[in-house]
Amino acid sequence: MSFDLVFFGGTGDLTWRKLMPALLQAFRHGKLPAGGRILAVARDEQTDDHYRAWLKERFQDVDGAKRPSDEEFDKFAQMLHYKRMDLSQPEHYGRLKEWINERQADTVVMYLATSPHLFPQICAQLGAVGLNEARVRVVLEKPLGHDLASAQEINRVVKSVFAEQQAFRIDHYLGKPSVQNLMALRFGNVLFEPLWRRESIANIQITLAEDFGVGTRGDFYDRTGALRDMIQNHALQLLTMVAMEPPSRNDADAIRSEKLKVLKSLKPFTDESVARDVVRGQYRAGNAQGHPAVGYLEEVKVPTGSQVETFVALRTEVQNWRWAGVPFYLRTGKRLASREAQIVVNFRATPHTIFPGVNQPNKLVIKLQPEDGLELHLLAAKGTSQSEALSPVSLDLDFDKAFEENRVGAYERLLLEAIAGRLNLFVRSDEQEEAWRWVEPVLNAWARDTSGPRVYAAGTWGPAAASALVARDGFAWSEEQ
Ligand code: BG6
Repeated sequence: MSFDLVFFGGTGDLTWRKLMPALLQAFRHGKLPAGGRILAVARDEQTDDHYRAWLKERFQDVDGAKRPSDEEFDKFAQMLHYKRMDLSQPEHYGRLKEWINERQADTVVMYLATSPHLFPQICAQLGAVGLNEARVRVVLEKPLGHDLASAQEINRVVKSVFAEQQAFRIDHYLGKPSVQNLMALRFGNVLFEPLWRRESIANIQITLAEDFGVGTRGDFYDRTGALRDMIQNHALQLLTMVAMEPPSRNDADAIRSEKLKVLKSLKPFTDESVARDVVRGQYRAGNAQGHPAVGYLEEVKVPTGSQVETFVALRTEVQNWRWAGVPFYLRTGKRLASREAQIVVNFRATPHTIFPGVNQPNKLVIKLQPEDGLELHLLAAKGTSQSEALSPVSLDLDFDKAFEENRVGAYERLLLEAIAGRLNLFVRSDEQEEAWRWVEPVLNAWARDTSGPRVYAAGTWGPAAASALVARDGFAWSEEQ
């Protein structure tokens, strides 16, 4: 299958840090269909060879294992091309069309790795020159809007040019192998389904914790904040996959319709529940991984006195028969105690215990990062004496060890899926808008409440109020259990 893959924002951070290394991995794994061309477009005037040399340089900054040898890069680079484009100039889109029409590739993927404010303009111009025919797909990187109205406006323009099945909205968490495994765990096995409901589950916790700060992205981050950056998209997508009903088929619309139903069932926020059920925090100076770390307000490009949150913990419920009354706790933050992304399913305690001592409920931990695996926590007898208390033990499954062949990273998978035209791992416009609809009352309540975020020291698990939020229901965050 021949393809043309065009990166708008071809010299941007996302392209060289994530997308090109992911493509190189796909090339290395022999997964990139032969007969492909990759075109980077950006403002600077340069030749294909200059661009290749520039990218090769950039690869020096990519993780050791992923760095290509000269020979490997040169082979990969034969697919690479560069074109200067001023995105506001209609005739530049005409030239792009000429390049694309030099041959009739089966698939043309337009990857918009630019600032999102350019999406409407790029889509409209592509439409104007007819680069929206059925073989063309458009990939839209997050953030897709900063509230419901702006997301709707982007979707309106995209839809006026491309059909929904041509629009691939990225949430890179959906490309992570452990998220694929969540589907496999729930819908490829019978074991958990009878327990996957309010009768057996006490609460569910989704934690997306990072130990690093905002780094050099202070200006972007300060316009965004943790709620928009991580909760509206990544955390909510994970929640939908945990809570959704089994789809009737493994196809994009069957899956996405089930996810949408979950989003529509989330308990809506009011000013009162925002004050009670949502904790926002901002890091102060502290100690991160044994080194002194500055506070958010001292980070480069962060405006003085900013009240933007770098931490959010919230409690919600999925209001349907399966989940009524089960708290779902979502938590994310920068400069937390460790880097870990996981979903913890806490089961209920046994109704009656015949063993003295511990009565620790079972829990299932779906680990997304740093490792990719599953842990099932059980109680067991060591077998030393009749009267001993049971001990907690865990069954651990490490997917990297279980599957020795090269596993595919998030961007690599998503790029390959976009080229293949499979939408299962991409977000539909109605899902995305529903997620904005749900977070918007929180954004509005915060905008009115000038008391600002609670502070927490870098290297900790966030403000104390986040622990209190869970303790109020008689539970504790996973690391405190
Ligand atoms: C991005 C956010 O979407 O996800 C970043 O903008 C965040 O702030 C990143 O660091 C986390 O992704 P991952 O895959 O490293 O967990």
